[in-house]
Amino acid sequence: MDEDALADGWFPESVAAGYDAPGGANASEVVVPMVDVLEELADGGPALEFAVGTGRIAAPLAARGVAVSGIELSRAMAARIADKPGGDKVEVTIGDMTTTRVAGQFSLAYLVFNTICNVTTQDGQVDVFRNAAAHLRQGGLFLIEVEVPGLRRLPPGQDTVPFTVAPGREGGGYVGFDQYDVATQLFTSNHVTVSADGQGRFRRIPFRYVWPAEMDLMARIAGLSLKYRWAGWDRSVFTAESTTHVSIWQKD
Ligand SMILES: C[S@@+](CC[C@H](N)C(=O)[O-])C[C@H]1O[C@@H](n2cnc3c(N)ncnc32)[C@H](O)[C@@H]1O
Repeated sequence: MDEDALADGWFPESVAAGYDAPGGANASEVVVPMVDVLEELADGGPALEFAVGTGRIAAPLAARGVAVSGIELSRAMAARIADKPGGDKVEVTIGDMTTTRVAGQFSLAYLVFNTICNVTTQDGQVDVFRNAAAHLRQGGLFLIEVEVPGLRRLPPGQDTVPFTVAPGREGGGYVGFDQYDVATQLFTSNHVTVSADGQGRFRRIPFRYVWPAEMDLMARIAGLSLKYRWAGWDRSVFTAESTTHVSIWQKD
C-alpha cells in the first residue's frame, strides 16, 4: 500500500470508489431530511462538517446557500466532493477531526453516520467535542448522529451479533457481524463478501461505542450542554427502544 492510501485510514481509494453508489445512505429520502434539519440549525450562519467524506451531506447543504467547511482524513474520499452539485463551494481541509483547526467561527458543527465511533479512544472522542466547541461561536450548536450501542442484542456469554446475512443476486453473498468487547467499549464491524465465483474478501474495521450519557459528559468537559436529543432526523422522541439518536449540544 502506498503512503497516501495508508494516510487515508479505513477509507482508501478502493472504498471511496464505491461510497457514492445510488440508494442506501445516498438516497434522497435519507439525505434530504438531514439537510433540512442542518440548514435550519445553521440559522443562516456557517457550518462545519467533521469527517465530511465524499460530501454526501455537505454538498447538498452548500447547494442551498449555507457556507460549509469540512475536515476529512481521507484524500480519496475528499477528492469526490467537488464533483457533486454544491460541492465546489465546500471548503475542505485534510486532517484529523480530533485536532485540526480551520479558520472561522461556526453556527453549527456536525458529525453524522456513526463517525464518532471511528475515534477508538475515549480521550480521542473527548477531543472531538473539544475541537467542535473551539470552532463554535457562543450559542453555536454541535450535532452528532450515532447508533445507541447495540449491547441489548447480545445474549449472555456471547460477544458477536450478526447484522446482515444476504445472498448475492447472482450467487455469492454478504455476511456482516459486529463483535464487542464490553470491557474496553471497543468493537469491530466485520464484513465477509463472497463473489459468485467463490472469491472471498474479509474487511474488519475497529470502532469505539459511546453512550448518550457519556457524550453528555464529554460535551460538558468541552463547555457544551444538551439542547435536543431525538430518535432520528424526524425529531421523534428518544426512548428506551431507540436504536439511534441525533443529539445537539449548545456552546454555553
Ligand atoms: C462513514 S464515512 C462518513 C462520511 C460523511 N460524513 C457521510 O455522512 O457520508 C466516515 C468518514 O470519516 C472519516 N474519518 C474517520 N476518522 C476521522 C478523523 N479522525 N478525522 C477526520 N475524518 C475521519 C473517514 O475517512 C470517512 O470519510
